[in-house]
Amino acid sequence: MGLTLTSYSVLLVTGGTLAFTRRKGIGRSSWLRPLHILVGSGLVVLVLLLLAIGVIGTLGEYGHLGHSLHLPFGLMVVTLVLASAWSASRISQERPWARKLHIGLNGGLGLALVAAGLSGWVVVQKYLP
Ligand code: HEM
Ligand code: HEM
Repeated sequence: MGLTLTSYSVLLVTGGTLAFTRRKGIGRSSWLRPLHILVGSGLVVLVLLLLAIGVIGTLGEYGHLGHSLHLPFGLMVVTLVLASAWSASRISQERPWARKLHIGLNGGLGLALVAAGLSGWVVVQKYLP
């Protein structure tokens, strides 16, 4: 989760720089966009990993899912991160809406990440002595 939040922060900064340089028409460093895409792909993998750990761990412990708000929040994160990566792949000159969609989805993703993190922290308390 720490890595996930770190990746999100890096994406926020690199994405923000991409938007800034595009608006001002300034040249950007050639590594900026590949870095944003690399870290973005990493975020997708991390979130799917957390989903797998959560689902497998919960099934192993109880045999069924759905013990708390952590499940809907977790699924929301997964949906939003996949939708965001898809919208990113649509960004181009001919599709200006994809850029807005990408930014909107990422705002929601930030909120969902916080919700999943906090609710995950709450369910963890059950396992602590
Ligand atoms: C889910 C994984 C992600 C992928 C694969 C991805 C990929 C991309 C791509 C390909 C672009 C277009 C770059 C260009 O203009 O040439 C972009 C732009 C951008 N991304 Fe991401 N991104 C991801 C996640 C995020 C996240 C989590 C944030 C914010 C927290 C973010 C913020 C931005 C911003 C602000 C832009 C600039 C839009 C503009 O030019 O107005 N991205 N991203
Ligand atoms: C993007 C982040 C995360 C995703 C997508 C995710 C996903 C999931 C899912 C789908 C479950 C099954 C829940 C159920 O059926 O009730 C689960 C369980 C669980 N997760 Fe996460 N999780 C995330 C982050 C976290 C974090 C940050 C923590 C701890 C601080 C955490 C701790 C747990 C625990 C303890 C369970 C067992 C549930 C229980 O005992 O009721 N998760 N996770």
